[in-house]
Amino acid sequence: MPISRRALLGGIGSGLALAACARLPQMTLSNDHPHYDYVLTAEPAPIELIPGTRTPAWCFNGGFPAAPIRARQGREISILFRNRLPEPTTIHWHGLRIPIEMDGVPFLSQPPVKPGEDFVYRFTPPDAGTFWYHPHVNSLEQLGRGLVGAIIVDEAEPVGFDQDVPLLLKNWHIQDDGGFAPFTSPRAAFRMGTAGAYESVNGIQNPSYSVPPGALVRLRFLNVDNTVMYKVAIPDHPAWIIAIDGSPVAKPIPLEQHEMGPGMRLDVALVAPAASGKTVSIKNAKGRLLFNLLELKTAGEPITSPRQVAALPANPLPKPDLAQAEVMNFVFEWEGAVTPVGADGKPNHRFWTINRRAWEGMSATNIPQPLATLELGKTYIFRLKNVTPHSHPIHLHGFIWTVLGSNQKTFETFHTDTVLLQKNEQVEVAFVADNPGRWMYHCHVIEHMKTGLMGYITVK
Ligand code: C2O
Ligand code: CU
Ligand code: CU
Repeated sequence: MPISRRALLGGIGSGLALAACARLPQMTLSNDHPHYDYVLTAEPAPIELIPGTRTPAWCFNGGFPAAPIRARQGREISILFRNRLPEPTTIHWHGLRIPIEMDGVPFLSQPPVKPGEDFVYRFTPPDAGTFWYHPHVNSLEQLGRGLVGAIIVDEAEPVGFDQDVPLLLKNWHIQDDGGFAPFTSPRAAFRMGTAGAYESVNGIQNPSYSVPPGALVRLRFLNVDNTVMYKVAIPDHPAWIIAIDGSPVAKPIPLEQHEMGPGMRLDVALVAPAASGKTVSIKNAKGRLLFNLLELKTAGEPITSPRQVAALPANPLPKPDLAQAEVMNFVFEWEGAVTPVGADGKPNHRFWTINRRAWEGMSATNIPQPLATLELGKTYIFRLKNVTPHSHPIHLHGFIWTVLGSNQKTFETFHTDTVLLQKNEQVEVAFVADNPGRWMYHCHVIEHMKTGLMGYITVK
Protein backbone atom coordinates (compact mmCIF):
# COMPACT_ATOMS: atom_id res chain seq x y z
CA MET A 1 0.00 0.00 0.00
CA PRO A 2 1.47 3.35 -0.97
CA ILE A 3 2.26 5.64 1.89
CA SER A 4 0.65 8.91 1.09
CA ARG A 5 0.64 11.62 3.60
CA ARG A 6 -1.04 14.80 2.63
CA ALA A 7 0.65 17.99 3.57
CA LEU A 8 -0.98 19.46 6.58
CA LEU A 9 1.87 21.50 7.85
CA GLY A 10 1.44 25.20 7.93
CA GLY A 11 -1.73 26.97 8.84
CA ILE A 12 -5.19 26.92 7.50
CA GLY A 13 -5.30 27.33 3.71
CA SER A 14 -2.12 26.67 1.85
CA GLY A 15 0.05 29.62 1.05
CA LEU A 16 -2.21 31.95 2.94
CA ALA A 17 -0.56 34.79 4.77
CA LEU A 18 -2.17 35.07 8.15
CA ALA A 19 -1.83 38.67 9.03
CA ALA A 20 -3.66 38.62 12.35
CA CYS A 21 -2.95 35.12 13.21
CA ALA A 22 0.14 34.34 15.18
CA ARG A 23 -1.85 31.92 17.28
CA LEU A 24 -2.51 29.21 14.71
CA PRO A 25 -1.04 25.93 15.87
CA GLN A 26 1.81 24.33 13.98
CA MET A 27 0.52 20.93 13.01
CA THR A 28 2.86 18.02 13.31
CA LEU A 29 2.19 14.50 12.18
CA SER A 30 3.36 11.65 14.28
CA ASN A 31 5.89 9.50 12.49
CA ASP A 32 4.47 6.46 14.23
CA HIS A 33 1.49 6.23 11.91
CA PRO A 34 2.74 6.01 8.34
CA HIS A 35 -0.30 4.07 7.12
CA TYR A 36 -2.86 6.80 7.53
CA ASP A 37 -3.36 9.98 5.58
CA TYR A 38 -4.16 11.84 8.77
CA VAL A 39 -3.87 11.46 12.49
CA LEU A 40 -6.61 13.31 14.32
CA THR A 41 -6.32 13.57 18.08
CA ALA A 42 -9.04 15.01 20.30
CA GLU A 43 -7.50 16.35 23.47
CA PRO A 44 -7.75 19.06 26.10
CA ALA A 45 -5.59 22.00 25.01
CA PRO A 46 -5.59 25.46 26.54
CA ILE A 47 -5.81 28.20 23.89
CA GLU A 48 -5.54 31.95 23.95
CA LEU A 49 -8.74 33.39 22.50
CA ILE A 50 -8.84 36.62 24.49
CA PRO A 51 -5.26 37.96 24.52
CA GLY A 52 -3.62 37.34 27.86
CA THR A 53 -6.14 34.68 28.98
CA ARG A 54 -6.34 30.90 28.76
CA THR A 55 -9.41 29.01 27.66
CA PRO A 56 -9.50 25.34 28.71
CA ALA A 57 -10.57 24.22 25.23
CA TRP A 58 -10.85 20.73 23.76
CA CYS A 59 -9.13 20.72 20.41
CA PHE A 60 -8.13 18.59 17.48
CA ASN A 61 -4.37 18.21 17.21
CA GLY A 62 -3.52 20.60 20.00
CA GLY A 63 -4.94 23.94 18.92
CA PHE A 64 -7.79 25.82 17.29
CA PRO A 65 -8.52 25.56 14.49
CA ALA A 66 -6.85 22.38 13.35
CA ALA A 67 -5.63 22.64 9.76
CA PRO A 68 -8.41 21.40 7.46
CA ILE A 69 -8.38 17.77 6.46
CA ARG A 70 -8.05 17.69 2.69
CA ALA A 71 -9.46 14.75 0.82
CA ARG A 72 -9.88 14.26 -2.91
CA GLN A 73 -13.16 13.43 -4.60
CA GLY A 74 -13.36 9.74 -5.47
CA ARG A 75 -10.19 8.82 -3.56
CA GLU A 76 -10.03 6.91 -0.35
CA ILE A 77 -8.81 8.72 2.73
CA SER A 78 -7.85 7.16 6.04
CA ILE A 79 -7.85 8.98 9.32
CA LEU A 80 -6.53 7.53 12.55
CA PHE A 81 -8.68 9.07 15.23
CA ARG A 82 -7.32 9.09 18.77
CA ASN A 83 -9.53 9.96 21.72
CA ARG A 84 -7.41 11.61 24.38
CA LEU A 85 -10.36 13.31 26.07
CA PRO A 86 -11.53 12.37 29.56
CA GLU A 87 -14.79 10.99 28.10
CA PRO A 88 -16.10 8.91 25.16
CA THR A 89 -16.60 10.49 21.76
CA THR A 90 -16.96 9.80 18.01
CA ILE A 91 -16.34 11.75 14.83
CA HIS A 92 -19.19 12.50 12.45
CA TRP A 93 -18.41 13.69 8.89
CA HIS A 94 -21.15 16.21 8.25
CA GLY A 95 -22.46 16.19 4.69
CA LEU A 96 -20.35 13.33 3.35
CA ARG A 97 -22.27 10.54 1.61
CA ILE A 98 -20.27 7.68 3.05
CA PRO A 99 -21.19 4.26 4.49
CA ILE A 100 -23.07 4.12 7.80
CA GLU A 101 -20.13 2.41 9.55
CA MET A 102 -18.17 5.65 9.11
CA ASP A 103 -20.95 8.04 10.15
CA GLY A 104 -19.75 8.45 13.71
CA VAL A 105 -22.97 8.22 15.70
CA PRO A 106 -22.55 6.25 18.92
CA PHE A 107 -24.61 3.02 19.11
CA LEU A 108 -26.34 3.70 15.79
CA SER A 109 -23.23 3.34 13.64
CA GLN A 110 -20.32 2.49 15.94
CA PRO A 111 -19.49 1.99 19.62
CA PRO A 112 -18.33 5.18 21.33
CA VAL A 113 -14.54 5.62 21.23
CA LYS A 114 -13.48 5.48 24.88
CA PRO A 115 -10.78 7.67 26.43
CA GLY A 116 -7.38 6.41 25.30
CA GLU A 117 -8.86 4.39 22.42
CA ASP A 118 -8.34 4.83 18.68
CA PHE A 119 -10.67 4.33 15.73
CA VAL A 120 -9.84 4.31 12.04
CA TYR A 121 -12.16 6.23 9.75
CA ARG A 122 -11.71 5.23 6.13
CA PHE A 123 -13.97 6.32 3.30
CA THR A 124 -14.11 7.63 -0.27
CA PRO A 125 -15.94 10.95 -0.55
CA PRO A 126 -18.10 10.94 -3.69
CA ASP A 127 -18.70 14.68 -3.65
CA ALA A 128 -16.28 17.61 -3.76
CA GLY A 129 -16.91 20.57 -1.51
CA THR A 130 -16.74 22.19 1.91
CA PHE A 131 -17.68 19.80 4.70
CA TRP A 132 -16.94 19.58 8.40
CA TYR A 133 -16.56 17.13 11.23
CA HIS A 134 -17.49 17.06 14.87
CA PRO A 135 -18.23 14.57 17.67
CA HIS A 136 -21.73 13.17 18.09
CA VAL A 137 -21.41 12.66 21.86
CA ASN A 138 -22.12 15.21 24.60
CA SER A 139 -22.36 17.70 21.76
CA LEU A 140 -23.14 20.84 23.75
CA GLU A 141 -19.86 20.58 25.60
CA GLN A 142 -17.65 18.80 23.07
CA LEU A 143 -18.50 21.14 20.21
CA GLY A 144 -18.80 24.07 22.59
CA ARG A 145 -15.25 23.55 23.84
CA GLY A 146 -13.86 23.59 20.33
CA LEU A 147 -14.13 20.11 18.77
CA VAL A 148 -15.10 21.25 15.28
CA GLY A 149 -13.03 21.14 12.10
CA ALA A 150 -13.15 21.52 8.32
CA ILE A 151 -12.83 18.64 5.87
CA ILE A 152 -12.38 19.90 2.36
CA VAL A 153 -12.88 17.53 -0.53
CA ASP A 154 -10.99 18.84 -3.53
CA GLU A 155 -12.55 18.39 -6.96
CA ALA A 156 -11.32 15.39 -8.94
CA GLU A 157 -9.89 17.87 -11.48
CA PRO A 158 -8.38 21.16 -10.25
CA VAL A 159 -10.77 24.13 -10.45
CA GLY A 160 -8.20 26.91 -10.61
CA PHE A 161 -8.45 29.20 -7.58
CA ASP A 162 -5.40 31.24 -6.63
CA GLN A 163 -6.36 31.23 -2.98
CA ASP A 164 -8.59 29.03 -0.87
CA VAL A 165 -9.63 30.35 2.52
CA PRO A 166 -11.54 28.18 5.03
CA LEU A 167 -13.37 30.33 7.57
CA LEU A 168 -14.72 28.63 10.69
CA LEU A 169 -17.39 30.81 12.28
CA LYS A 170 -17.85 30.21 15.98
CA ASN A 171 -18.95 32.12 19.05
CA TRP A 172 -17.27 30.91 22.21
CA HIS A 173 -19.11 30.58 25.49
CA ILE A 174 -16.38 32.30 27.46
CA GLN A 175 -16.13 35.06 30.03
CA ASP A 176 -13.62 37.91 30.13
CA ASP A 177 -11.09 35.74 31.97
CA GLY A 178 -11.20 33.13 29.19
CA GLY A 179 -13.03 30.56 31.33
CA PHE A 180 -16.11 28.85 29.96
CA ALA A 181 -19.59 30.14 30.68
CA PRO A 182 -22.54 27.70 30.63
CA PHE A 183 -23.18 26.22 27.16
CA THR A 184 -26.92 26.25 27.72
CA SER A 185 -29.65 27.78 29.79
CA PRO A 186 -33.15 26.32 29.93
CA ARG A 187 -34.89 29.52 28.90
CA ALA A 188 -32.71 29.93 25.81
CA ALA A 189 -32.89 26.25 24.86
CA PHE A 190 -36.61 26.70 24.32
CA ARG A 191 -36.04 29.74 22.14
CA MET A 192 -33.09 30.26 19.82
CA GLY A 193 -30.37 28.85 22.07
CA THR A 194 -27.55 30.29 24.14
CA ALA A 195 -25.12 32.35 22.09
CA GLY A 196 -21.47 32.51 23.12
CA ALA A 197 -20.24 36.02 23.85
CA TYR A 198 -16.93 35.84 21.99
CA GLU A 199 -17.30 35.88 18.22
CA SER A 200 -14.52 34.48 16.12
CA VAL A 201 -13.41 33.53 12.64
CA ASN A 202 -10.80 30.76 12.81
CA GLY A 203 -10.53 31.52 16.52
CA ILE A 204 -9.75 35.21 16.00
CA GLN A 205 -11.90 38.32 16.19
CA ASN A 206 -12.10 40.18 12.86
CA PRO A 207 -9.06 38.56 11.28
CA SER A 208 -7.36 40.06 8.27
CA TYR A 209 -6.00 37.79 5.54
CA SER A 210 -3.80 38.93 2.72
CA VAL A 211 -4.44 37.81 -0.84
CA PRO A 212 -2.51 38.62 -4.02
CA PRO A 213 -3.93 41.53 -6.04
CA GLY A 214 -6.12 40.20 -8.84
CA ALA A 215 -6.35 36.70 -7.32
CA LEU A 216 -9.35 34.45 -7.81
CA VAL A 217 -10.32 33.70 -4.20
CA ARG A 218 -12.53 30.96 -2.82
CA LEU A 219 -13.93 31.73 0.62
CA ARG A 220 -15.31 28.72 2.44
CA PHE A 221 -17.58 29.80 5.26
CA LEU A 222 -18.45 27.09 7.78
CA ASN A 223 -20.94 27.76 10.54
CA VAL A 224 -19.54 25.41 13.18
CA ASP A 225 -21.36 27.16 16.01
CA ASN A 226 -23.80 25.45 18.37
CA THR A 227 -26.40 28.16 18.11
CA VAL A 228 -25.70 31.30 16.14
CA MET A 229 -27.02 32.22 12.69
CA TYR A 230 -24.68 34.22 10.46
CA LYS A 231 -25.75 36.33 7.50
CA VAL A 232 -22.79 36.75 5.19
CA ALA A 233 -22.59 39.89 3.05
CA ILE A 234 -19.87 41.59 1.01
CA PRO A 235 -21.51 44.93 0.27
CA ASP A 236 -18.69 46.80 -1.48
CA HIS A 237 -17.14 44.22 -3.76
CA PRO A 238 -18.68 41.83 -6.30
CA ALA A 239 -18.85 38.24 -5.04
CA TRP A 240 -20.73 35.12 -6.07
CA ILE A 241 -22.13 32.10 -4.29
CA ILE A 242 -20.66 29.04 -5.99
CA ALA A 243 -21.73 26.32 -3.54
CA ILE A 244 -24.29 26.00 -0.77
CA ASP A 245 -23.63 23.52 2.05
CA GLY A 246 -20.94 21.81 0.01
CA SER A 247 -23.02 21.42 -3.14
CA PRO A 248 -22.16 23.55 -6.21
CA VAL A 249 -24.94 25.76 -7.56
CA ALA A 250 -25.72 25.43 -11.26
CA LYS A 251 -24.72 29.03 -11.99
CA PRO A 252 -22.85 31.46 -9.71
CA ILE A 253 -25.37 33.59 -7.77
CA PRO A 254 -24.48 37.20 -6.92
CA LEU A 255 -24.05 37.34 -3.14
CA GLU A 256 -26.37 39.72 -1.37
CA GLN A 257 -26.98 38.32 2.09
CA HIS A 258 -26.89 34.62 2.77
CA GLU A 259 -28.11 33.23 6.07
CA MET A 260 -26.33 30.24 7.54
CA GLY A 261 -27.67 28.26 10.47
CA PRO A 262 -25.42 26.01 12.57
CA GLY A 263 -23.93 23.24 10.43
CA MET A 264 -24.31 25.12 7.15
CA ARG A 265 -21.56 26.16 4.73
CA LEU A 266 -21.16 28.64 1.91
CA ASP A 267 -18.54 28.89 -0.84
CA VAL A 268 -18.08 32.38 -2.23
CA ALA A 269 -15.83 33.33 -5.15
CA LEU A 270 -14.44 36.77 -5.88
CA VAL A 271 -11.63 38.42 -7.80
CA ALA A 272 -9.47 40.47 -5.44
CA PRO A 273 -8.87 44.14 -6.29
CA ALA A 274 -6.12 44.57 -8.86
CA ALA A 275 -4.18 47.11 -6.80
CA SER A 276 -2.10 46.43 -3.73
CA GLY A 277 -3.16 47.70 -0.30
CA LYS A 278 -6.90 47.43 -0.98
CA THR A 279 -9.38 45.97 1.48
CA VAL A 280 -12.45 43.82 0.94
CA SER A 281 -14.62 43.89 4.02
CA ILE A 282 -16.78 40.86 4.78
CA LYS A 283 -19.78 41.46 6.98
CA ASN A 284 -22.28 39.69 9.17
CA ALA A 285 -25.75 41.25 8.89
CA LYS A 286 -27.77 41.45 12.08
CA GLY A 287 -31.11 43.04 11.41
CA ARG A 288 -30.33 46.11 9.34
CA LEU A 289 -26.81 46.55 10.67
CA LEU A 290 -23.65 45.14 9.17
CA PHE A 291 -20.85 44.02 11.49
CA ASN A 292 -17.30 43.22 10.48
CA LEU A 293 -16.55 39.51 10.23
CA LEU A 294 -13.15 39.62 8.55
CA GLU A 295 -11.26 41.42 5.84
CA LEU A 296 -9.08 40.57 2.89
CA LYS A 297 -6.14 42.82 2.10
CA THR A 298 -4.33 42.75 -1.21
CA ALA A 299 -0.57 42.38 -0.90
CA GLY A 300 2.33 40.67 -2.63
CA GLU A 301 2.90 39.60 -6.23
CA PRO A 302 -0.12 40.59 -8.31
CA ILE A 303 -1.83 38.11 -10.59
CA THR A 304 -1.88 39.76 -13.95
CA SER A 305 -3.71 37.28 -16.17
CA PRO A 306 -7.43 38.04 -15.97
CA ARG A 307 -9.49 35.89 -13.60
CA GLN A 308 -13.16 35.10 -13.81
CA VAL A 309 -15.67 33.43 -11.52
CA ALA A 310 -17.07 30.25 -13.05
CA ALA A 311 -19.46 27.51 -11.92
CA LEU A 312 -18.00 24.49 -10.14
CA PRO A 313 -18.53 21.04 -11.66
CA ALA A 314 -21.70 19.36 -10.37
CA ASN A 315 -21.40 16.50 -7.88
CA PRO A 316 -22.63 13.03 -8.89
CA LEU A 317 -25.88 13.03 -6.90
CA PRO A 318 -28.40 10.36 -7.86
CA LYS A 319 -31.31 11.95 -9.67
CA PRO A 320 -34.61 11.85 -7.75
CA ASP A 321 -37.46 10.25 -9.69
CA LEU A 322 -40.09 12.80 -8.74
CA ALA A 323 -42.91 11.08 -10.66
CA GLN A 324 -42.51 7.93 -8.53
CA ALA A 325 -41.63 9.66 -5.27
CA GLU A 326 -43.31 8.91 -1.98
CA VAL A 327 -44.19 11.98 0.08
CA MET A 328 -43.50 11.96 3.82
CA ASN A 329 -44.53 14.69 6.23
CA PHE A 330 -42.35 15.82 9.10
CA VAL A 331 -43.77 18.38 11.48
CA PHE A 332 -41.41 20.23 13.78
CA GLU A 333 -43.29 21.33 16.84
CA TRP A 334 -42.93 22.39 20.41
CA GLU A 335 -44.81 21.40 23.46
CA GLY A 336 -46.03 24.92 23.98
CA ALA A 337 -48.26 23.96 26.88
CA VAL A 338 -45.49 22.22 28.75
CA THR A 339 -43.40 24.26 31.13
CA PRO A 340 -39.90 24.11 29.71
CA VAL A 341 -38.39 24.00 33.17
CA GLY A 342 -39.40 21.57 35.91
CA ALA A 343 -40.01 22.58 39.54
CA ASP A 344 -36.38 21.68 40.22
CA GLY A 345 -35.22 24.24 37.63
CA LYS A 346 -33.90 21.50 35.31
CA PRO A 347 -34.75 21.74 31.63
CA ASN A 348 -37.40 19.55 30.06
CA HIS A 349 -35.55 17.30 27.63
CA ARG A 350 -38.63 16.59 25.61
CA PHE A 351 -39.65 20.07 24.60
CA TRP A 352 -39.19 20.02 20.82
CA THR A 353 -40.79 17.25 18.77
CA ILE A 354 -40.66 15.74 15.27
CA ASN A 355 -44.06 14.25 14.35
CA ARG A 356 -45.04 14.48 18.00
CA ARG A 357 -42.01 12.54 19.18
CA ALA A 358 -39.12 13.89 21.20
CA TRP A 359 -35.75 12.15 21.14
CA GLU A 360 -35.59 9.69 24.01
CA GLY A 361 -31.85 9.28 24.11
CA MET A 362 -30.03 6.11 23.21
CA SER A 363 -27.71 3.50 24.68
CA ALA A 364 -26.16 0.24 23.53
CA THR A 365 -29.22 -1.68 24.71
CA ASN A 366 -31.92 0.87 24.00
CA ILE A 367 -32.27 2.30 20.51
CA PRO A 368 -35.55 4.08 19.84
CA GLN A 369 -37.75 3.33 16.84
CA PRO A 370 -36.92 5.25 13.65
CA LEU A 371 -39.06 8.20 12.59
CA ALA A 372 -39.52 6.49 9.23
CA THR A 373 -38.33 3.44 7.33
CA LEU A 374 -37.38 3.99 3.70
CA GLU A 375 -36.97 1.53 0.89
CA LEU A 376 -33.46 1.33 -0.54
CA GLY A 377 -33.21 2.97 -3.98
CA LYS A 378 -36.56 4.72 -3.92
CA THR A 379 -37.12 8.49 -4.24
CA TYR A 380 -38.72 10.34 -1.32
CA ILE A 381 -40.05 13.84 -0.96
CA PHE A 382 -39.86 15.07 2.61
CA ARG A 383 -42.29 17.85 3.44
CA LEU A 384 -40.63 19.68 6.30
CA LYS A 385 -43.07 21.77 8.24
CA ASN A 386 -41.94 24.15 10.96
CA VAL A 387 -44.88 25.15 13.12
CA THR A 388 -42.75 26.81 15.79
CA PRO A 389 -41.92 30.52 16.01
CA HIS A 390 -38.17 29.78 15.78
CA SER A 391 -35.89 28.78 12.94
CA HIS A 392 -34.35 25.32 12.70
CA PRO A 393 -31.49 24.12 10.50
CA ILE A 394 -32.72 20.57 9.83
CA HIS A 395 -30.01 18.09 8.91
CA LEU A 396 -30.09 14.52 7.62
CA HIS A 397 -26.94 12.38 7.74
CA GLY A 398 -25.76 10.35 4.77
CA PHE A 399 -27.70 12.10 1.99
CA ILE A 400 -27.89 15.34 0.08
CA TRP A 401 -31.32 16.77 -0.53
CA THR A 402 -32.56 18.58 -3.60
CA VAL A 403 -34.59 21.54 -2.35
CA LEU A 404 -37.72 21.80 -4.48
CA GLY A 405 -39.61 24.70 -2.98
CA SER A 406 -40.86 26.66 0.01
CA ASN A 407 -44.14 28.28 0.98
CA GLN A 408 -42.23 31.49 1.82
CA LYS A 409 -39.82 32.15 -1.02
CA THR A 410 -38.85 31.22 -4.55
CA PHE A 411 -35.40 30.12 -5.63
CA GLU A 412 -33.57 28.01 -8.15
CA THR A 413 -33.43 24.37 -7.10
CA PHE A 414 -30.32 23.70 -5.06
CA HIS A 415 -28.81 20.88 -3.00
CA THR A 416 -28.04 20.73 0.69
CA ASP A 417 -27.60 18.50 3.71
CA THR A 418 -29.07 21.11 6.08
CA VAL A 419 -32.23 23.11 5.36
CA LEU A 420 -32.83 26.29 7.32
CA LEU A 421 -36.54 26.37 8.11
CA GLN A 422 -37.78 29.81 9.07
CA LYS A 423 -40.68 30.17 11.45
CA ASN A 424 -43.85 28.67 10.01
CA GLU A 425 -42.01 27.73 6.84
CA GLN A 426 -42.71 24.57 4.87
CA VAL A 427 -40.00 23.27 2.56
CA GLU A 428 -40.02 20.28 0.23
CA VAL A 429 -36.87 18.31 -0.39
CA ALA A 430 -36.30 15.24 -2.54
CA PHE A 431 -33.65 12.54 -2.48
CA VAL A 432 -32.93 8.98 -3.48
CA ALA A 433 -32.65 6.66 -0.47
CA ASP A 434 -29.58 4.95 -1.91
CA ASN A 435 -27.50 4.62 1.25
CA PRO A 436 -28.56 1.82 3.63
CA GLY A 437 -28.35 2.44 7.35
CA ARG A 438 -29.80 4.26 10.30
CA TRP A 439 -29.29 7.97 9.70
CA MET A 440 -29.64 10.74 12.25
CA TYR A 441 -32.10 13.44 11.41
CA HIS A 442 -32.05 16.48 13.65
CA CYS A 443 -31.96 20.20 14.17
CA HIS A 444 -28.38 21.49 14.25
CA VAL A 445 -29.07 24.06 16.97
CA ILE A 446 -27.43 21.84 19.54
CA GLU A 447 -29.70 22.91 22.38
CA HIS A 448 -32.73 22.03 20.25
CA MET A 449 -31.42 18.56 19.44
CA LYS A 450 -30.60 18.04 23.11
CA THR A 451 -34.15 18.99 24.13
CA GLY A 452 -35.97 16.72 21.73
CA LEU A 453 -35.49 17.80 18.10
CA MET A 454 -33.70 14.68 16.95
CA GLY A 455 -34.52 11.28 15.52
CA TYR A 456 -33.34 8.97 12.80
CA ILE A 457 -34.57 7.26 9.67
CA THR A 458 -33.80 3.73 8.54
CA VAL A 459 -33.03 2.92 4.92
CA LYS A 460 -33.11 -0.76 3.97
CU1 C2O B 1 -23.38 17.91 11.87
CU2 C2O B 1 -25.68 14.94 13.32
O1 C2O B 1 -24.56 16.44 12.52
CU1 CU C 1 -24.26 15.23 9.73
CU1 CU D 1 -33.99 23.86 16.02
